[in-house]
Amino acid sequence: MKQQLVDKFLEIYGEGDEPGVYFAPGRINLIGEHTDYNGGHVFPCAITVGTYAAARRRTDSDLCLYSLNYPECGMVRSSLSDLAYRQKDGWGNYPKGVVQTFMSKGCRISGGLDILYYGDIPKGLGIGSSASLEVVTGLILKELMDLKDMSLVDIALFSQLAENEYIGTGSGIMDPFTIAMGKKDHAIFLDTSDLSYIYAPLRLPHEKIIITNSQKVRLAVDERYQERRSQCRKALEELQTVIAIRNLGELTAEVFEQVQEMIGDPVRLRRARHAVTENQRTIQAVEALKKGEIEEFGQLMNASHLSLKEDYEVSCEELDILVEEAWDIEGVLGSRMMGAGFGGCTVSIVENSAANEFISRVGQNYEKRTGRRAEFYVVETGNGAAVL
Ligand code: GLA
Repeated sequence: MKQQLVDKFLEIYGEGDEPGVYFAPGRINLIGEHTDYNGGHVFPCAITVGTYAAARRRTDSDLCLYSLNYPECGMVRSSLSDLAYRQKDGWGNYPKGVVQTFMSKGCRISGGLDILYYGDIPKGLGIGSSASLEVVTGLILKELMDLKDMSLVDIALFSQLAENEYIGTGSGIMDPFTIAMGKKDHAIFLDTSDLSYIYAPLRLPHEKIIITNSQKVRLAVDERYQERRSQCRKALEELQTVIAIRNLGELTAEVFEQVQEMIGDPVRLRRARHAVTENQRTIQAVEALKKGEIEEFGQLMNASHLSLKEDYEVSCEELDILVEEAWDIEGVLGSRMMGAGFGGCTVSIVENSAANEFISRVGQNYEKRTGRRAEFYVVETGNGAAVL
């Protein structure tokens, strides 16, 4: 991959110094969904697919971006003095946003760059392709602009800022953090209230992690995501009138029961209940995994799905059908919708011996019930962003 990308880079940008090559992965999340903007825990891991980039400094101050995934968009070229968001720049707005964010945070970007990207993250799955593109761009800036003090966590935070303020989506810290900090054979138990984390070993010699693409396009996901965020914020404010907490992630299920009547609306109450119980499930799941109780871990994944469906209402018919069909198969330890929801994919932990049956039966029954053809990916954990 490295040599191919370098050759392509030299073909597109011309001979000269050999470019550096960089990689940032995609991510999956085992449990802890819609907790990362509620100060709760998440338990994601980086995977082996991701975004590769070759990059080299220019002698002028232009930013030139080309993606092998979007050749129809051609070269996206901007001057460092004008990196404003432009509709016509399409995918190129993501890296532009990262450069702009670094500059607005006082990082010295002392010249232009040529960058060539290639990503092998399947599209539309919701497994962190935009954060992967942002983090790899951040890593290029750190390396080529000699930003010695910049850590991978800083890159993750700047990527989130670019996504929130430049692109305008309100996503949390889970994706860029995991993509920057991932570690092969480990998942990250991250406390999003203060970014403290531990790497939990995730060796599953007898099981596979299978991502199933529902092929349901996620519609109005940003709007509905923002609505959930503001419902949680409002519920938190109501609870803060009786209890000193900074976020919903600080509550145990028991304490929540005692104070929940302060939430003056049944929908908000369900949203907050999900944020609280999902965080507790995540903590329990990591404990279970440490003890090797993988069945218990799977049960918690299943409970996570029900809570996302009933209390948080971010699932959809297609995701529910995929999960129901998965639960029906012996050897499936856990299965749930993953990511923002309203379409996208599910994550399942399946015993090796049941993997083929899982793929054929879930696939057939899903097609019978929805007319859609699911896609299956057996994923491997991988490392976070790195210079190759
Ligand atoms: C999206 C966001 C994440 C997180 C998940 C839900 O993937 O990018 O920050 O909020 O939804 O857990």
